[in-house]
Amino acid sequence: MTRAQSPGKVILFGEHAVVYGRPAIAVPVRELHTTVEVTDFPDGRLGDVYLESPAVGLQAWLTELPEDDAVARITRSALQRLPRREPALRIRIESDIPIASGLGSGAAVSVALARALSQHVGLVFPARVLSELAFEVEKLHHGTPSGIDNTVISHEKPVYFVRGKPPETLVVREPFDLVIGDTGIPAPTAEAVGSVRKRWIEDRRGMERSFDSVGDVVRRARAAIEAGPASLLGSLMNENQILLQAMGVSSDELDRLISAARLAGALGAKLSGGGMGGNMIACVTADRIQPVVEALRGAGATRTIATLVEP
Ligand code: MEV
Repeated sequence: MTRAQSPGKVILFGEHAVVYGRPAIAVPVRELHTTVEVTDFPDGRLGDVYLESPAVGLQAWLTELPEDDAVARITRSALQRLPRREPALRIRIESDIPIASGLGSGAAVSVALARALSQHVGLVFPARVLSELAFEVEKLHHGTPSGIDNTVISHEKPVYFVRGKPPETLVVREPFDLVIGDTGIPAPTAEAVGSVRKRWIEDRRGMERSFDSVGDVVRRARAAIEAGPASLLGSLMNENQILLQAMGVSSDELDRLISAARLAGALGAKLSGGGMGGNMIACVTADRIQPVVEALRGAGATRTIATLVEP
């Protein structure tokens, strides 16, 4: 049996604008995992693969699944890169990354599955290959993914990402704490990306200006991460949140959690990922982790995660 894992992720700065060529920063969340187990399945049909993912009720032979099924797609494309093999395989996916919440659940499944399959035949796909394979699947979820999710999850390091360019990993000078709060409301990335696209079509100049402002926040955030002080990241999150609100991707529930975190002493807070639901993040000093967690729960967060961002 071979087991491989991948982490979740949060976007610290730059979501949505990253689809339009501006930079963004994302970090892995190691408290969240997708785990994939691959075993030989001697009773199975020769050369076939049996897939199981209890969280989404998946139990099927690969040959029964349609072309546009995400799990089937990553399995087929990973298998194409491996030497042909006869015995059937059984693949089991377990994940504690909530689906449609902006935490990278889709990319995490793709990366862990491709990693487990390659390791099962004694190969190691490098991060670049894992990222490429996962990117093809991201396109099924929404038409114009920037590629940031598959990049940060396959590299498992903080990344500064510009669409179409090789990712740059960031050296975090001063580790800093984040608290993540889940609104419990599904955040369909495709819908959020589509609504920003509609606004961009209606007001291209205005939206391009907003994206430029986001890019400026991201570059300043990069400097604060690499050279310090990390405390600046809070006010930069607040600036980014104002721009995201103006793009129409925040929501009452996100705004409520963001205000609760700030009132409890967070340095700053914003939504993270596609928005319209899903998760928010707050940058906090170590002594404010617990008060912010409690304030988020009191304001209706269905789940909170405290995580340290380090190199
Ligand atoms: C989704 O995690 C982040 C978005 O910027 C979409 C993308 O980058 O593909 C909203």
